[in-house]
Parts: sequence; structure tokens; C-alpha cells
Amino acid sequence: MTTIAVLGAGKIGEALLSGLLSAGRRPEDLLFTERYAQRAAELTERYGVRAVDTATAATDADVLVVAVKPQDIEVLLDTLATAVTPGTLVVSLAAGLPTALYERRLPAGTPVVRVMPNTPMLVGEAMSAISAGTHAGPEHLAVVEDLLSAVGKVVRVPERQQDAVTALSGSGPAYFFFLVEAMIDAGILLGLPRDVATQLIIQSAVGAAVMLRDSGEHPVALREAVTSPGGTTIAAVRELENHRVRAALLSAIEAAALRSAELGRAHD
Ligand SMILES: NC(=O)c1ccc[n+]([C@@H]2O[C@H](COP(=O)([O-])OP(=O)(O)OC[C@H]3O[C@@H](n4cnc5c(N)ncnc54)[C@H](OP(=O)(O)O)[C@@H]3O)[C@@H](O)[C@H]2O)c1
Repeated sequence: MTTIAVLGAGKIGEALLSGLLSAGRRPEDLLFTERYAQRAAELTERYGVRAVDTATAATDADVLVVAVKPQDIEVLLDTLATAVTPGTLVVSLAAGLPTALYERRLPAGTPVVRVMPNTPMLVGEAMSAISAGTHAGPEHLAVVEDLLSAVGKVVRVPERQQDAVTALSGSGPAYFFFLVEAMIDAGILLGLPRDVATQLIIQSAVGAAVMLRDSGEHPVALREAVTSPGGTTIAAVRELENHRVRAALLSAIEAAALRSAELGRAHD
């Protein structure tokens, strides 16, 4: 049985622990590290999973999942550099940190897989993109796919595409939240009570998302199906095009990717 240690059981780390347990992993096959004793005790109480220190996690686990904030990585790597045993798979969930950073600091040959998850991991609906480092092979990617499929969907991408992934799915939920917020405001403008406008838009977003995921139809086909000649939707679409919403999204997502690359260079 594989032992998995989550290093840094904050929001993402806890979501992963919870998802792994729901997917059938046994609490005794999981470990976690956490800086605050009280938080560690709460998590052990909630999930029945043992809290350990980083060095113990490094020796006892077959897979180390790094879920600390990028700014905390150096301190963690100081400990891992001497504690990781050869062959241990290191999985990084930390946004923007390249596999090369780990490979420089960890024992030679350590397999590293970089993951860009997103916040819907908190509700078991993450979109995670995974990339192999120099010493990680298909067998390591398969282990990570298996782990992350407990909390959502997984795709494989070459590491050079991780800035694009960050801009698309990493930040993606924020764009949808922004859109929903603006559409609720439109309801207010039209005189609807805020709670009614909120219900209408959130359920429309959920319904549209499920159709996009499950119907197998292209987004254009789905939109055309509700855009009748001379109707209401086309009147709205004309305004969206007049305000260059499509161009704004292209620029916005490109800006996010450029920013991701800029932040990544700080770790080179
Ligand atoms: N949230 C997202 O949407 C999202 C999306 C994609 C990627 N990520 C990545 O996921 C990682 C975790 O994000 P998060 O939102 O879950 O952050 P978070 O809630 O701050 O969780 C990080 C946890 O790690 C703990 N920690 C830090 N250094 C540690 C150490 N040396 N040993 C043990 N525990 C340590 C922190 O403790 P303290 O409370 O003491 O700081 C905190 O509980 C980040 O690298 C982020 O880039 C997050």
C-alpha cells in the first residue's frame, strides 16, 4: 500500500486529504504535516489521519505532496534536502514552482511531478494539470493522476505549458465568479431583488456548466440553440460583441500567463 504525506495541510492540503479518504484510501496510509499543533489536532480528530514532522513524512511516505505556499518552500526544502529517501515521489501543488527548483535541492534522481490545481478542489471538482520533471516517468504521472482524480479531473501537459494552464484553469474560477457577480448586478439594474438575481444566475451557471461537461456539444452549438432569430439572446450577444468581451478575455488570459511566467522567473 502506498503511503502519502501531505506537507502543509491548509485549504488545498485538507481538501486533498478529505478527497483521498472519500475515494477509499485508509487513514493509516495517509500522513500530514502542519505548523500549528492545534490545527494538526483538529485535522487528526476530523479525519483520523496522523500528523508528523517533515523529516518523518519524508522517511515514512512513498509520495510527498507539497501543499505549502510558494513563499514557504525554501524552509521546507531545507529539511527535505537531507530527509528524502531515494525513489520517493515528490508532487508539487505550489503554484509557479518549477520542477527544476526541487531537482536542484533534492537527492539526485528524485522524481518530481508539478501540478497546477484550482480552488474547486475544495468541492471535489478541481481541474489539475500535471507535468513530469526530468526524473519522473509515465508510472509517476499515473500515480499522481490516480491521487488527483479523487478531487476532480486531471490532464497531462508539458511543463512549458504550465503558465498557460495557470492563466486558464488556475485563475479560471475567478473569471467565472467575476462574470456571475456582473450578471447579478444586471439583475439588480433590472429591478430584481438581490437574492432572486443571485439564485437565477448561480443556477444558470451550474446548469450551463453541467451541459458543457455532459452534453458532448460544442459551446457554440449550445449557445446557438438558445439564440433564436430576432430574439432576446442575440440582442444581448450583439452588445457583448460591441463591447469586445471576447477580445477582453483573450487579453486578460494572456496577461495572466505573462504574469505567471514573470513570477516563475523569480525561482529560476
Ligand atoms: N488555493 C488555491 O486556489 C490554489 C490553486 C492552485 C494552487 N495552489 C497552491 O496550493 C498550495 C497551498 O495553497 P492553500 O491555499 O492551501 O494555502 P494555505 O491554506 O496557506 O495552506 C498552506 C499550509 O501549509 C502550512 N505550512 C507552511 N509551511 C509549512 C511547513 N514547513 N511545514 C508544515 N506546514 C507548513 C501552512 O501553515 P501556516 O498556516 O502556519 O502558514 C498552511 O496551513 C500553494 O502553494 C498554492 O500555490 C492553491
